Amino acid sequence: MAQQISLQENNIDQILQELSLKEKASLVVGAGYRSMLAGIFGFRVPVPGAAGMTRDIPRLGIPAIVLSDGPAGVRIEPGRKGNKVTFYCTGFPIGSLLSSTWNTDIVEKVGAAIGNEALEYGIDVMLAPGMNIQRNPLCGRNFEYFSEDPLLSGKTAAAYVRGIQSQGVGACLKHYAANNQETNRFWNDSRVAEDVLREIYLRNFEIAVKESAPWTIMASYNRLNGVHTQQDKWLLTDVLREEWGFDGLVMTDWTGKRDTGAQIEAGCDLMEPGTGSQIRELCRKVKAGELSEEALDICVRRVLELIVKTPSFKGHQPSLHPDLQAHARVALEAAEEGIVLLENRDGTLPMDPGGQVALFGVGSYQTLAGGTGSGHVHRPYIVNIAEGLQQEGFSVEPALADIYTQYIAKNQPKTSFMSRMVGGPGVPEMPLDKNTIQAASATADWAVFTLSRQAGEGGDRHLDGDFLLTEDETGALSQVCNAFHQAGKKVVVVLNIGGVIETASWKDLPDAIVLAWQPGEEGGNAIAHILSGKVNPSGCLPISFPVDYFDLPSSAHFPYDFHGKESFISGKEKYADVENVGYTEYAEGMDVGYRFYRKEGAPAVSYPFGYGLSYTRFQVSEPIMMDGKATLTVTNTGTVPGKKVVMVMDTALRAFGKTALLAPGASQTLTLELGPARTKETDKIKP
Ligand code: BGC
Repeated sequence: MAQQISLQENNIDQILQELSLKEKASLVVGAGYRSMLAGIFGFRVPVPGAAGMTRDIPRLGIPAIVLSDGPAGVRIEPGRKGNKVTFYCTGFPIGSLLSSTWNTDIVEKVGAAIGNEALEYGIDVMLAPGMNIQRNPLCGRNFEYFSEDPLLSGKTAAAYVRGIQSQGVGACLKHYAANNQETNRFWNDSRVAEDVLREIYLRNFEIAVKESAPWTIMASYNRLNGVHTQQDKWLLTDVLREEWGFDGLVMTDWTGKRDTGAQIEAGCDLMEPGTGSQIRELCRKVKAGELSEEALDICVRRVLELIVKTPSFKGHQPSLHPDLQAHARVALEAAEEGIVLLENRDGTLPMDPGGQVALFGVGSYQTLAGGTGSGHVHRPYIVNIAEGLQQEGFSVEPALADIYTQYIAKNQPKTSFMSRMVGGPGVPEMPLDKNTIQAASATADWAVFTLSRQAGEGGDRHLDGDFLLTEDETGALSQVCNAFHQAGKKVVVVLNIGGVIETASWKDLPDAIVLAWQPGEEGGNAIAHILSGKVNPSGCLPISFPVDYFDLPSSAHFPYDFHGKESFISGKEKYADVENVGYTEYAEGMDVGYRFYRKEGAPAVSYPFGYGLSYTRFQVSEPIMMDGKATLTVTNTGTVPGKKVVMVMDTALRAFGKTALLAPGASQTLTLELGPARTKETDKIKP
């Protein structure tokens, strides 16, 4: 009998010849939902809770490989039946916080820690980073994404990918492309002009592909100009592979069944999560001459090329013991670097540890580490703001803390099947009465008022009570500010949010505002370090904060007033003709974020893209532009050490960088490579 061959890095051609048609089809179709649901139903799989797998072919030595979400850490089940050991994963800060660091080194470090955790838990490919453009502040998944700007988004994604892949684990850019809303996400048609698409919604993917060579990329749920992206040959082959030189694997998002043959022909190599009927359909189509076996072979080859790179193929034995303490330190470092100081009147911050803080807002005691959905991470703990401040030497006003703790214990939302898997909403905000506020203002030295927002996959945010503060929140905030100001004490607002909220109407009330985003499991410590001055804030906004939602050119072209739950059910027929639900016109064109706000005649923003304060001052020299590079020197002219983000902008962001920690008086010269100029230079910028 002839010796059976076994998959090697250099025998893929031979393996292709050995594979039967059914085996080929099974390689391009994932192994279903078993691993994702294993934690709930107890299925035996290598990594319970991992999002998906491929199918193995033992006779040819082809292993199954394991795919896991992302992006704020590894998402697997923390417990396993009959096993006392836990499998928690580090909860890193959300994407918007990582991009707020403007520091690709720290993002790469986060990527490496996530990659290492994936490796040690038996994951081959991380389904991360999420990198859609934050086109409109209400997109429910903006927290997973990086920026309204493609250069910042692309460079941040590239750093994240390099980090993951430095560990021998693959990354996956998602969701390609123009997946900018959750409402009716399986059917919504993003209608985008090609120049806008290329300059904004594809540019970030292009940068990441070219600068980090990701092993994989995930097509999106939505349609793009009428075609499901996973069936779009122009997108997946002509642009991605032929123009940009991508040589990895394309997979679907977790869509279930679509036109299986069309996907193969478009260059979509792996269908996830995968069903047996897709395998049968592929075989039938090839046999009937409706799909060429050559097209299928191309996809099979790419699956095999991916498999031979993976830890599973290389026989790596996961330790199941990643260094969660070391990774928590990375999560903390990133959070400290991405928190943005929005206001600091009369040097309110830093506040001296030792004093007593009255903590208002549920988020002070139940700080949100991240968003919900596939981006949720089962972390071992979350340090809340109260704990963080106490660790830092502050005391927390006990009577108020008691009231909140009891309220939170009584009002915990019920856990459900879904919330166990993908996280749930936090406790609703607690109404405050005058006496409680008065009492706290008499005893405490400061007030910290935390405003929280939760969002996630499967739904977009709304204006009332989400983008806008609720009446209760505005009322409570102004009462707290009045009471504390009358007592000669300061109020700091901490924003524990995943996406942009309205700030213009209330930002003059408190003395300082700290945008902490959803800062991961070490959030409370990071916030306390910023408040105490142990860390000098150096984060800057990756997205504009509008004065009024309706100032945004995309505002009317987004389902801000649609209150259905159409992301999970089929909106194919029912909503086909409903604007912003069945289809969305990207009628704002290039006027996304600061590209609009910087134009002559545009309305003012509440906080512009790139904005962020520091406890020190910097002087930045005029850049010298030469050979496609900008060189400039930054000097710390203040009194405490700090880091400074520098940006080179014309009508668009052309380059950015960040200094090291500069001592007072110290300087650093940065040389930044300029990204491409805009294709059409017609806009006039505000003076
Ligand atoms: C999400 C993806 C995720 C996948 C697997 C989908 O619903 O859109 O981002 O990677 O599920 O969990």
